[in-house]
Amino acid sequence: MAEPILVTGATGTIGRRVVDALRASGHDVRPASRTSPCPFDWGDPDSWPAALDGVQAMFLMAPDDVPVEPDFVKLAADTGVERVVLLSSGAIEEMHDERLLEAERLVKESGINWTILRSSWFDQNFDEGFFQPGVMAGAVCMPVGDVRQVFVDAEDVGAVAAVALTADGHAGNTYAVTGPRALTFAEAVATIGEAIGRPLTFDGSTSAYVAMLVEVGMPQEQADLIASTFDGLRSRGDDEPTDTVRRLTGKEPIDFRDYVADAAKRGAWALS
Ligand SMILES: NC(=O)c1ccc[n+]([C@@H]2O[C@H](COP(=O)([O-])OP(=O)(O)OC[C@H]3O[C@@H](n4cnc5c(N)ncnc54)[C@H](OP(=O)(O)O)[C@@H]3O)[C@@H](O)[C@H]2O)c1
Repeated sequence: MAEPILVTGATGTIGRRVVDALRASGHDVRPASRTSPCPFDWGDPDSWPAALDGVQAMFLMAPDDVPVEPDFVKLAADTGVERVVLLSSGAIEEMHDERLLEAERLVKESGINWTILRSSWFDQNFDEGFFQPGVMAGAVCMPVGDVRQVFVDAEDVGAVAAVALTADGHAGNTYAVTGPRALTFAEAVATIGEAIGRPLTFDGSTSAYVAMLVEVGMPQEQADLIASTFDGLRSRGDDEPTDTVRRLTGKEPIDFRDYVADAAKRGAWALS
C-alpha cells in the first residue's frame, strides 16, 4: 500500500509500537498525535483533515477517558479511508465501558472495513503506565481480587495491529489480544519483585483502592464509582489466553516473565 497509514496515539504505549511494526515491514506511516510531526488533536477538528489526507488505512485509538469523536470517523469515511483498526479492551461489557463500547459501535457503523482489537491489560502498565508509581513505591493496588488476567505485551498488540492494517482477511473481526498465560495480579507483581530484588506487595481489595484514590484527593463518591467499575471484571472470573497473536503474526506471544526480565535488565525499575 503506497498511501500513508495513519497511526493515532503514535507516541503512546501501543501507537509507537504500531508505527515501528509498520515501518519494519516497509510501510509508509503517518504518526499522529498532539506532539507528532503530524499534529492531531481529538479536541481540535481543524487538525483532522491534514491527518486523513490521502489515507486509506488507519490505526484508531483514544487516550484514556477521551472518546472517539463520531465526526472524525465520519470524516475518515467521507475522505476515503477504507480500513480501520480500533484499539479496544477486553471486558468492556462487564465493566460498562461506554466510551469503548461507543467507539466500537462507531467503527462498525462507519462503512469502513473495520477490525477491533480487544486487548488485555498491557504488560507495560507496570513500567510505562499507571502501575509504575506503585511498583516504584513497593505497593500496587487494584480492585481486581485474585482473578487471573492474560497480560499482553504491547509489542504483540502493535504487531497484531500492523498485520490487521496491511493484510487481507481481518475485516469484520473482533479479536481478543492476549498474552500466553493467565496470572493473578499478585503473581505478576511478585514476578517483578523477584526480578528487581525488592519486596513488592499487592492489594486487590476495593477498600484499599478507594482509600488510595481518596488519599490523593479524589472525592469519596467518585472513588467509589471508579472502584465499582471493577465489580464486573471480578465477577467475570479468570480470563483465558487466545491464539490471536500467534495466528496473525506467526510468532509466540511474549510471556510476562520475559517482559519483566527485559524491563528489569534495561533498568526500568531502577532506583536512582
Ligand atoms: N492500559 C491497558 O492495559 C489497556 C488495555 C486495553 C485497552 N486499553 C486502551 O488503550 C488506550 C490507551 O492506549 P495507550 O496506553 O497506548 O495510550 P497512552 O500510552 O496513554 O498514549 C496516549 C496517546 O494519545 C495521544 N494523545 C493524548 N491526548 C490526545 C489528544 N487530545 N488528541 C490526540 N492525541 C492525544 C498521546 O500523544 P500526545 O501527548 O503527543 O498527544 C499518546 O500518543 C485507551 O483507550 C485504553 O482504554 C488500555
